[in-house]
Amino acid sequence: MYERLIHFYNSLSKKRANNMVDQAKQTTHFGFRTVAKDEKEGMVAEVFHSVAAKYDLMNDLMSFGIHRIWKRVAINASGIRRGQRVLDLAGGTGDLTAKFSRLVGEKGEVVLADINESMLKVGREKLRDTGIVGNVSYVQANAEALPFPDNYFDCITISFGLRNVTEKEKALRSMFRVLKPGGRLLVLEFSKPLLAPLSKAYDAYSFHVLPKIGQVFVQDADSYRYLAESIRMHPDQETLKTMMEDAGFEQVTYTNMTGGIVALHRGFKF
Ligand SMILES: C[S@@+](CC[C@H](N)C(=O)[O-])C[C@H]1O[C@@H](n2cnc3c(N)ncnc32)[C@H](O)[C@@H]1O
Repeated sequence: MYERLIHFYNSLSKKRANNMVDQAKQTTHFGFRTVAKDEKEGMVAEVFHSVAAKYDLMNDLMSFGIHRIWKRVAINASGIRRGQRVLDLAGGTGDLTAKFSRLVGEKGEVVLADINESMLKVGREKLRDTGIVGNVSYVQANAEALPFPDNYFDCITISFGLRNVTEKEKALRSMFRVLKPGGRLLVLEFSKPLLAPLSKAYDAYSFHVLPKIGQVFVQDADSYRYLAESIRMHPDQETLKTMMEDAGFEQVTYTNMTGGIVALHRGFKF
């Protein structure tokens, strides 16, 4: 009788432990909040629908224009040549696409892919207004399930996009699949500041100033609070490097910029 009771108790705690593991598998982070995995995509969509119209202005204001330098470094590291095919994933309003379009020339091709129709619309209109047409196409797509053939792109960039993706590992595997052998992936993303004093100042700025700028310019403090929180929850430099290697990328290296506030990871498919 006593043994039966112990057996019953053990199987009960095992079930409870399994339930907890199942629950953990089905949840993820939306900023600092733990949410169901299937909810995150919609929540991220709301953020970018809300900020799309003023996204470019906010980028300049929040980063004091420094995002342009970070993006320039990424373009230079891409090694893009004329005639190549590039995917600007989570490309939003198309800053990188505009540069790539000029670099690949008439015989090349740039695909600006983003999950969010509002961001894509702003991007498409901005690029058309600046005369960029012929070699750019626009695709609404989730980074986790890219709608392109295997071995298709010479280069993929994902700039300030990966931290918003629910299943980052799945997205990295999807990027690996559509990249040509010899091709490279560049991930430009907020990362972990290298020095404690910088980290403290950056925290104060992100959590106190950013939401206020958001409130004043887009009447939306919450989206910019999410921005600050999502940056803190994003994998640090070494973790992201390992994630890229696990997805199949080789010779993965990274460069810290602005004291590690941003890092550029680069990996190859061979
Ligand atoms: C911060 S913006 C970056 C835009 C642009 N790449 C830049 O550097 O300015 C992040 C973009 O990621 C997109 N995004 C979020 N989750 C995505 C997903 N699962 N697949 C594709 N794009 C996604 C958003 O819609 C948004 O346009």
